[in-house]
Amino acid sequence: MQLVHTIEDLRTAMRPFNSPAFVPTMGNLHDGHLNLVRAAKPLGDVVVSSIFVNRLQFAPNEDFESYPRTLQADCDRLEQAGCDIVFAPLEKELYPVPQVFKVHPPGDIGDILEGHFRPGFFIGVCTVVMKLFQCVFSESKGPRYALFGKKDYQQQMVIKRMVQQYAMPITVIAGETQRASDNLALSSRNSYLSDANRAEAVQLSMALRSLARDALAAGEALPEKLHSLESRAMHALATRGWQPDYLTVRRRSDLQAPLASDAVAPGALVVLGAARLGSTRLIDNFEI
Ligand code: PAF
Repeated sequence: MQLVHTIEDLRTAMRPFNSPAFVPTMGNLHDGHLNLVRAAKPLGDVVVSSIFVNRLQFAPNEDFESYPRTLQADCDRLEQAGCDIVFAPLEKELYPVPQVFKVHPPGDIGDILEGHFRPGFFIGVCTVVMKLFQCVFSESKGPRYALFGKKDYQQQMVIKRMVQQYAMPITVIAGETQRASDNLALSSRNSYLSDANRAEAVQLSMALRSLARDALAAGEALPEKLHSLESRAMHALATRGWQPDYLTVRRRSDLQAPLASDAVAPGALVVLGAARLGSTRLIDNFEI
C-alpha cells in the first residue's frame, strides 16, 4: 500500500489505473469504513482511501480540534482491508488558500435534518468531496466508484445528488451501517463516550426501531399521526437524559415528510435520528 500526502504524488500514483474505487474518510477508522474498503476491492482496478479531517464541515463550536487523528493505526487497518493507495493531505495541501469556491447543496435536501442542526455542514462536505474527486479521479478513463456509509444517510443522498447534478462520471455506492453487538451504529465519535454513556448509547437505535414500528402500525394515517409519534419518541429519549435534535420518519426518495401513499408503499420510508448524550452527538437511521 502506498501512502501519499500531495495531490501531485496522488496523481502520479493513480496514472497506471483506469477504474478507481474511492472511500473518503476523516480517519479514526472503524469496521464501517473497512467494510467499504472491502466492498470497493472487486469494483475497480485500484482502491483509494483518503484521510482528511475537513475543517470546512465543522462549526466553530464542534470537535474539529479534538477529532482523533490516528494516521498510523488507520494505515495499518486500511492495508489489511486491501486498500492500495492512501491520500492523507495536510490542510495546506488541500486548502493552500482559503477555499472560497464552495458547493452549496439545495435547501430541500441540504438545509433539513443534519443541515438544519449543523448549518454549513453539507456545504463543507460537498466542497471537500468535490475536491477529493478532482484529485482522485482526474487520471481515470474507466468507470469510477465512490463509497459512502449509510450511517450518514443524508450525506450519501446529498452526494448522490451532487454527482448527478454535475454529471460527474462516478457511481456512488452506499454501504450498510455496521453495528456493535448491542446494535449501536459504529462511529468514530463513539470513542468519546464514557463507559456509562456507551452502555446507554444503544437507546438511540432502540428509540428509532420503536418509531419505525409505530410508523408501520399507523399505515395510511401516518401523516396525521407523524408529529405525535415523533414527539413521543423524542420525549422517551429526553427522559433518559438525552438531548434529541430530531427523531423522524421520512421518505427515502427525498427525505421529505411521507404522504399517505408513501406510508403503505413497500420500502419507501426511513427513520432518522440525532441526539446528544453528554457532549457526544450521535446519529443513526433504519430503512423501514
Ligand atoms: O463521512 C465522512 O467521514 C466525511 O463527511 C467525508 C465524506 C469524508 C468528507 O469529509
